[in-house]
Amino acid sequence: MQIQKAVFPVGGMGTRFLPATKAIPKEMLPVVDKPLIQYAVEEAYAAGIREMIFVTGRHKRAIEDHFDTAYELEAELEAAGKKALLDLVNSIKPDDMDCVYVRQPKALGLGHAVLCAERLVGNEPFAVLLADDLMLGTRQGDGGPTVLQQMVQAYQSNPGTVLAVQDVPKEETGRYGVVDVHGAHATVAEVFAMVEKPKPDVAPSTLAVAGRYILTPAVFESIRRQPRGAGGEIQLTDGIAALIGTEKVYAFRYEGKRYDCGSKEGFLQATIDLALANPELSAAVRAHMVAALA
Ligand code: UTP
Repeated sequence: MQIQKAVFPVGGMGTRFLPATKAIPKEMLPVVDKPLIQYAVEEAYAAGIREMIFVTGRHKRAIEDHFDTAYELEAELEAAGKKALLDLVNSIKPDDMDCVYVRQPKALGLGHAVLCAERLVGNEPFAVLLADDLMLGTRQGDGGPTVLQQMVQAYQSNPGTVLAVQDVPKEETGRYGVVDVHGAHATVAEVFAMVEKPKPDVAPSTLAVAGRYILTPAVFESIRRQPRGAGGEIQLTDGIAALIGTEKVYAFRYEGKRYDCGSKEGFLQATIDLALANPELSAAVRAHMVAALA
């Protein structure tokens, strides 16, 4: 079955980025010149997905405006003959892409956010992308697959829930959903246990879930049945964990790099790496860094 819909939960509070996130969602923070949410939408589009579902919170406006027509701006660019900029603005939302929005009335957790998309998703498998995890496929810049493209491919031969995973240092397990798998080194491995934010001494492994998921519609009912989990939130991890045994859940080791742009450190790393990879900026940024470190 094709994955046709992607859910972007953007209703979090973004407290780690205050004051920047007081009036805009953290997903609108730009890395170099593009907001995080646009990187994630482009990743989903590259994977063949055309229906983008945003689960928004208080800051609905900025994201909706970003993917909407901007008549004034477009008219001014056109009048000024700035064709390249006009094309850039128009390319944010290709004509064959639909954007729909649903409100998460309270930030009750990621599981709750996904549940808010249930009616829009319906009875079909779908992708979830957390835009604050900026993911770059290893050869993406040279036409290679994005991380979600790799996952959709893995899903074709392993239909079921597919979770993007990566190894993390043992002391960091408390920041992630962590899985236990059969065949820890395989690219695709079946998951037999999953726990949210385990302390290092009780973590089942160091294989952590990154912010990309392919989920089946069974997850909705499963989330609904869960009591509040870690941090008093309705956890997506608990909903997925409860499916193990009734449906296949796979961990997929993607080829690529993940930047945790919900944290200042990860956000700065992404900014530096993408600036260094940008032909217009790299020489100046490199020179500046050498001077700053001298
Ligand atoms: P985080 O826990 O990283 O987001 O949630 P946060 O709560 O916004 O950030 P901090 O910790 O306060 O800085 C992971 C993802 O889930 C979304 C967030 O927007 C983010 O993409 N989320 C989280 C929701 O959409 N709704 C929620 O209730 C919670």
